Amino acid sequence: MRMKRGTKTSSFGSPGRINHDSTRFYASRLYESLPKEEKGKYVENPIPPEFLDKIFCKSSENMEELPDNSVHLMVTSPPYNVGKEYDEDLTLEGYKEFLRRVWQEVYRVLVPGGRACINIANLGRKPYIPLHAFIVEDMLALGFLMRGEIIWNKASSSSPSTAWGSWLSAANPTLRDIHEYILVFSKGTFTRKKPQNRNNTISREEFLEFTKSVWTFPAEQARSIGHPAPFPVELPYRLIQLYTYEGDVILDPFMGSGQAAIAAIKTKRHYVGYEINEEYVKLAERRIRRFSYVQSVPTLFDFIVKEGRADINMGGSLKPKTEGVDYEISRKRARRKG
Ligand SMILES: C[S@@+](CC[C@H](N)C(=O)[O-])C[C@H]1O[C@@H](n2cnc3c(N)ncnc32)[C@H](O)[C@@H]1O
Repeated sequence: MRMKRGTKTSSFGSPGRINHDSTRFYASRLYESLPKEEKGKYVENPIPPEFLDKIFCKSSENMEELPDNSVHLMVTSPPYNVGKEYDEDLTLEGYKEFLRRVWQEVYRVLVPGGRACINIANLGRKPYIPLHAFIVEDMLALGFLMRGEIIWNKASSSSPSTAWGSWLSAANPTLRDIHEYILVFSKGTFTRKKPQNRNNTISREEFLEFTKSVWTFPAEQARSIGHPAPFPVELPYRLIQLYTYEGDVILDPFMGSGQAAIAAIKTKRHYVGYEINEEYVKLAERRIRRFSYVQSVPTLFDFIVKEGRADINMGGSLKPKTEGVDYEISRKRARRKG
């Protein structure tokens, strides 16, 4: 039988990509100076149980509690150094050095093929500070492989800024960012094989949506969480579903209000975090406790089944259909139960 020939890199691009042979593209000199994939042996060291599902109140510049090769995904949003109550007034170089110390620790603790996802917004206008570009440069210098970049479109939830510069005039109109970035890297190799007894949990619909490079969902309201800059649970939730297996370990070195930990619990993963501010550690622990409680409260349907009243016709509509972020639904239900 004649095999269908695949497409390959060509000067005019290739329309569909079937068994695509991109050897020529990857052998090009563009790739010469970038970190290369290493095909080493997979190593994974367990985190001591007393350190798992914990937030350490200290700087993540030193994560000595975590063994080398012990974390499967890092997801974080770093402090911005712009005068929030937890920020220091570092120079740009000092700020980059501080973050490099944290990224270096992240590199050490990630398993081979482990992923690092950094949520970051750019700053200022005169001139604009492309923090995301600086972070990419530093991550590459540390040896991380870059997997891609997600544009998080905060859409209608972004603040209705009127800082458009010169109104209806080319004199000096300025761009109003309604997006942030999520930069995605891997340590050493792109692939992480499925370990025995740890399953994928992503649905078909989620996979189709989460593999797109533009994500649209609203930002979180700082006031309702009690932290000046929380990301929505949906952000770590998507990355956890896409990049990890059930039972894996998720690290947030800047844990803030605990959103990454909540997403980890929601998806049956473990978490570990660092947060320098004691008040935020307490806030995160409170929120995690409340979420774990709500998560363990049976839904009305489960309750009726347990009570032996499953014969009642429930119409099948009471239990949330998706395993998505139904935290709010369960919270309201728990509140009603008193
Ligand atoms: C942008 S916030 C993260 C918010 C978090 N993603 C959430 O959803 O709540 C950055 C956090 O990093 C913490 N932080 C600042 N310097 C730190 C350090 N050296 N080590 C650990 N945490 C630090 C701040 O106190 C702040 O809570």
